[in-house]
Amino acid sequence: MSKIIAVTSGKGGTGKSSVCAGLGYTLAKQGHRTLLIELDFGLRCLDIMFGVENEIKYDLGDVLAGRKTALEAVQTVPMANNLSLLCAPKTLTSVNAKQIVEICRSVKKYFEYIIIDTGAGINSHVFDIVEQANLILVISTPDPVCIRDASLMSDEFYNRGNKSQRLIINKISKKVIGEALVSNLDEIIDKVGVQLIGVIPDDFTMTVATGKGNPIPTDSSALKAFDAISKRLGGEFVPLTVKTA
Ligand SMILES: Nc1ncnc2c1ncn2[C@@H]1O[C@H](COP(=O)(O)OP(=O)(O)OP(=O)(O)O)[C@@H](O)[C@H]1O
Ligand SMILES: [Mg+2]
Repeated sequence: MSKIIAVTSGKGGTGKSSVCAGLGYTLAKQGHRTLLIELDFGLRCLDIMFGVENEIKYDLGDVLAGRKTALEAVQTVPMANNLSLLCAPKTLTSVNAKQIVEICRSVKKYFEYIIIDTGAGINSHVFDIVEQANLILVISTPDPVCIRDASLMSDEFYNRGNKSQRLIINKISKKVIGEALVSNLDEIIDKVGVQLIGVIPDDFTMTVATGKGNPIPTDSSALKAFDAISKRLGGEFVPLTVKTA
């Protein structure tokens, strides 16, 4: 039975797609059959991040239109055995929660983890889809606006009945703490009001790797953070270490 994880945030550009890519990659490297489903209709990016831009034959649009089954539209990712991708269509296509739930149901026996990138912008369909997930990963950066939006999003999911949420703080650096935007990680956790599952440093090597469609370097601090979060998702105890530049 696969675990369906929705990766979401209030504000755009917090790193949802990067987190999906990083977690998908590390979960797959740890041996877990993992599927990433991208809901960023009209603005897909995971194909570039995994260097398969020219190999995508079908996408979620083909599944929604009934031209392909979800399994037929899934693209395997050469850089990591066990990792597959169901890309968002390049055009805006309407979708509802029932359709996404049905797609997940049709493929769940093939994957241990299904990770959903909710994409930029939040609408009621996204709320409906995310509330069906087994776990919601709320992504926030240390930016006060982002923290407030993450808190509002989390409250909404909580009010809708999904209490299974964890916080990922992304793009943390000494600079941002030093500038007193936030005094420490506890302040972010308290303000968002969600239990922490991991902290990802601001790491330019990840931006370069995902921009070029290359694997994230094994010695990068971001990859180490993703590796730890992936293990925690499986229930393993991994102590929190925060390495910032
Ligand atoms: N930990 C990090 N360190 C350095 N750069 C990062 C990190 N996480 C994300 N980025 C960069 O931030 C930018 C936005 O990231 P990303 O596209 O993953 O955000 P998003 O939340 O998916 O955006 P959108 O809301 O548009 O879908 C990208 O240039 C990405 O490379
Ligand atoms: Mg994105």
